[in-house]
Amino acid sequence: MKNKLEEILKNASEEISKSANIQELEEVKLKYLSRKGELNTIKKNLKDLSDEDKRVIGSLANNIYNELETKINTKNEELYKIELNKKLVSEKIDISLPSDIRVQGKVHPLTQTINEIVEIFQGLGFSVMKSENSPEVETEYINFDMLNFPPNHPAKDMQDTFYTKVAPNVILRSQTSGAQIRQMLHQAPPVRVISPGRVYRCESVSARKNNLFHQIEGLLVDKDITFGDLKGILNEFVRIYFGSSRPTRFRASYFPFTEPSAEVDVECIMCGGKGCRTCSGTGWLEVLGAGMVHANVLRNVGIDPEIYSGFAFGMGVERLTMLKYAINDIRLFFNNDIRFLNQF
Ligand code: DAH
Repeated sequence: MKNKLEEILKNASEEISKSANIQELEEVKLKYLSRKGELNTIKKNLKDLSDEDKRVIGSLANNIYNELETKINTKNEELYKIELNKKLVSEKIDISLPSDIRVQGKVHPLTQTINEIVEIFQGLGFSVMKSENSPEVETEYINFDMLNFPPNHPAKDMQDTFYTKVAPNVILRSQTSGAQIRQMLHQAPPVRVISPGRVYRCESVSARKNNLFHQIEGLLVDKDITFGDLKGILNEFVRIYFGSSRPTRFRASYFPFTEPSAEVDVECIMCGGKGCRTCSGTGWLEVLGAGMVHANVLRNVGIDPEIYSGFAFGMGVERLTMLKYAINDIRLFFNNDIRFLNQF
């Protein structure tokens, strides 16, 4: 039995020192030191021995147990350190590595302009029309006829329209003015709304023109509304948008749906009114169209022009953005070039 114990000590010691990892060491421990392990099996057989042998073999078995336990603990510490070091090396974080680049999203410059203009008009008591009253796919009837464009009148040629195959009279709207009609069909006066949105025109794309652009339409209808109210509101808008020191002028113009009609100019922001390429030497920049709502338009939507009057206006969002930031090509808004968009 003594030999057997010494053999256990020898084999176990060898297996301990050969263990390559904590798992293997754990198996060695189970094999020799557990309740069903080899040392215990010997202890269980002690009862067949003489008292003297019981004492000698028993204490030898205990010593071997303690010795192996110490060896296992030492080895365990050793292996733990090795494994920890391996882990530290493999999980090392290199703080000198450049991090993932997360590009910050931005609000598109056209959306910024729309938001800014909407806010200005909200401050002047206007609310934003529901988008259902301002569809991009529109009928010729709303886009032109209801707005007092005479049938086959050359006025229709002012705007080159995209026709669809949906039905002969369904178009992509060429202006946001149709939203005025839809709003007045839905709401009795007083009406005081604006409506930003996309419009489409069939023309060749250039630095100054795109097939798709944005307009903001405005409409105010109530009792006793005069051209003076129109001037007051629009002057206030231009003052806030371009800065208070910039003079404006109202020029007589023509739109089928307003009478009288006007175009509003602001002093050229490039040359300060002296005359330059941007303003074609005039010193003025046209920024919006406007006028008193034509009596025929009011009649078309069932509003009595003897009781009510109103004004309307429309402006191009791209144009206003280009003027404010001195952008020379409308196509830049639609190319999604991050170098351009990042500047806003
Ligand atoms: N719809 C016109 C255009 O596209 C702009 C405009 C002019 C709108 C006068 C109006 C207005 O409401 O009163 O050129």
